[in-house]
Amino acid sequence: MEIFVKNPLDTELSADVIITGFYENDKELSEIQKGLDEKFNGVISKNILGIENFKGKYLETFSVPVAGKKILAVGLGKKEEFNNDKVREIAAKTIKTTEKLSKNKTVAYNIQNNGSMCCCKIAYNIALGTIMGEYDFDKYKSKKNEEKITTVEILHAKPEKLTPVVEKAKITGDAMNFTKDLIFEPAEYATPTKISEIASNLASENGLKIRVYNKDELKNMNFNAFLAVGQGSVQEPKMIHLKYTPANGAKKKIAIIGKGITFDSGGLDIKPPASMLTMKTDMSGCACVLGVMKAISKLKPDVEVHMISALCENMPSGSSYKVGDVLIAKNGKTIEVDNTDAEGRLTLADALTFADELNVDEVIDVATLTGAVIVALGNTITGIMGNDEEFVKEIIEDGKEAGETLWQLPVFDDMQENLKSDIADMRNTGSRYAGSSVAARFLSNFTNAKKWVHLDIAGTAFIDKPYKELSKGATAAMVRTLIKHITK
Ligand code: BES
Ligand code: MG
Ligand code: ZN
Repeated sequence: MEIFVKNPLDTELSADVIITGFYENDKELSEIQKGLDEKFNGVISKNILGIENFKGKYLETFSVPVAGKKILAVGLGKKEEFNNDKVREIAAKTIKTTEKLSKNKTVAYNIQNNGSMCCCKIAYNIALGTIMGEYDFDKYKSKKNEEKITTVEILHAKPEKLTPVVEKAKITGDAMNFTKDLIFEPAEYATPTKISEIASNLASENGLKIRVYNKDELKNMNFNAFLAVGQGSVQEPKMIHLKYTPANGAKKKIAIIGKGITFDSGGLDIKPPASMLTMKTDMSGCACVLGVMKAISKLKPDVEVHMISALCENMPSGSSYKVGDVLIAKNGKTIEVDNTDAEGRLTLADALTFADELNVDEVIDVATLTGAVIVALGNTITGIMGNDEEFVKEIIEDGKEAGETLWQLPVFDDMQENLKSDIADMRNTGSRYAGSSVAARFLSNFTNAKKWVHLDIAGTAFIDKPYKELSKGATAAMVRTLIKHITK
């Protein structure tokens, strides 16, 4: 889908559908709307605002045919309550409406400022919203959607001012689509080996450095906790280390780590069917950080970024790791396996130790780690935990700016009590209660980073019904937040 900015007062209007926004009970026309009204014989003043039943309520739509095109009026709601998140939701929902209106290919957007917003942000969110709204994963459908919108025009009097912002939205949207595609792929396709190949292609296409470690290399590097998780599977475990280096020196160094369980059956502590159903998505953390690398290779921030993902399958078999096994993690600490389904933290433990050796200023891990975070925060809020209050707050703010909600859960030192083992330094699970916090406390044993945050996306990575601008299924959770954090 092509997206660009265009001045409708200067150029021909080629769009099949023109989407134009109205505030609730506000009959004043913007400059662009006045232009459209003149061009199309008063269609806006007479056929839209003159109609009693269109009130401009948030997300209300009303379509009027005119000169072989359609004008789709959309309600922006109360002027004083309008914001960037609403722009994105409107764009995502109206582009879907437009698809269904008839065989439309080109859509123009005119969403007027409420007087206190930045036009750049409006354009950014129209572009990102349309990309998010148009997304679907149809690779395995024999019948593809033929009603796709091919072109989005954002109407504004000064295209040159908005074009760079729209480019940034396109890069972010592309990264999200890449992440979603990878999450939707079946586990039989997206194996550790396949994801390593995808990462290698991404690296060579975008000028990133990559190193993929195989099982023997990982054995020599003492990734024992990680390798234990993968040992029951016929799929070889792999670890990806991608690196972005800015051209003119780095103001800081960041490591982003993604949980990469390509399928989580639970292992010998096998999951019941309903819980196993979506476990191909247990590599959403990996897919997230890969998408982020794709975007930053194009946005080129002056930050050095390391992306790490330890990829494997958690399967039951004769060679699986067992409860009661004692693992010696990469950093030398010993872990008694209490539950083979608490595998993510074991893989992350060694990945966190690896990140420590890179001497970075910040470490961020993203993981579908606990069912407990869903109980606590549901499917629309990501749990954030960490060891530096200021850093946690900063990431929450970055999320807000980017349009994603995070909420902090506590990590206390005395939660280590919960992880006590009789025969090893710790065990990999504690009591059921405060499960997300205890998991984070477990992870904290494996990082010495001064600034570390853990983002638990178990609830937010894959949703079973649409929410605002997000479609059902993979959401690319935390891609926007991390891009924002790294490029701000
Ligand atoms: N991958 C799961 C967590 C998960 C649950 C992700 C639901 C997405 C949706 C993780 O590996 C897991 O199985 N966690 C266990 C931990 C428990 C055994 C301590 C859980 O949360 O039940
Ligand atoms: Mg598990
Ligand atoms: Zn898991």
